[in-house]
Amino acid sequence: MDGYQALSLKTAEAIAAQLKTKPESCLGLPTGRTPLGCYELLSKWSKEGKLDWSKARCFALDDYLDVQEVDSFAHYLQENLYQHTNLPAAQRFNPRFSDNYDQLIADCGGLDLTVIGIGSNGHIAFNEPGTPRNSWTNSIWLTESTRQANAAFFSYPHNIPNRAVTMGVATILASRHLILIANGEHKQDILTKALTGPRTNDVPASFLQEHGDLKVFTDFDYQHAISR
Ligand code: GLP
Repeated sequence: MDGYQALSLKTAEAIAAQLKTKPESCLGLPTGRTPLGCYELLSKWSKEGKLDWSKARCFALDDYLDVQEVDSFAHYLQENLYQHTNLPAAQRFNPRFSDNYDQLIADCGGLDLTVIGIGSNGHIAFNEPGTPRNSWTNSIWLTESTRQANAAFFSYPHNIPNRAVTMGVATILASRHLILIANGEHKQDILTKALTGPRTNDVPASFLQEHGDLKVFTDFDYQHAISR
């Protein structure tokens, strides 16, 4: 098993365990390349009848604004995960379709487990550099580097949106459990900076240091050294 497969398996097992322990769990779910292996496993186990999503509530971390539906994160989650599970459509949430996502999450009892990736510039969800720690769900302007990093997902480069809506840093930190996933050596420097450097708006992922239950899964050799 290679490092990426191990990362995917650990993440999928953590989500499966959460669902088994608490079937009505609220899960915060990421998009991007990193979680694809995890979603493949969860889809497989769901099709085999090993996972029951009937009571779960799933919350996309973020989504583009002014986006063609086929390029949206709602579509990504539908294609890569939801359609392979028995998660009822009414329990699939996306910040694009909610006037008050944080209230919705609170009304559902709060996030139990949130899985997050990290952008090369230190963003989590779409909280770009400059985002304060006390940000809740809001709409943001994407940096050019993030737009380019995600360009491969778009059929036409001129279609890449400039704006997005994202859970805030505070929304993510309020989750009871957090898993940060990072794949590829190119994420090593930013991960180290985020988890061992100063907590700063310049690296929104650095605020994860204050969470009491953060697990970090990577496919590279990484010492999880959080200075508290
Ligand atoms: C995207 C998403 C994030 C994701 C990150 C890393 O812009 N908004 O939620 O975690 O970038 O993506 P990838 O896994 O493709 O490197």
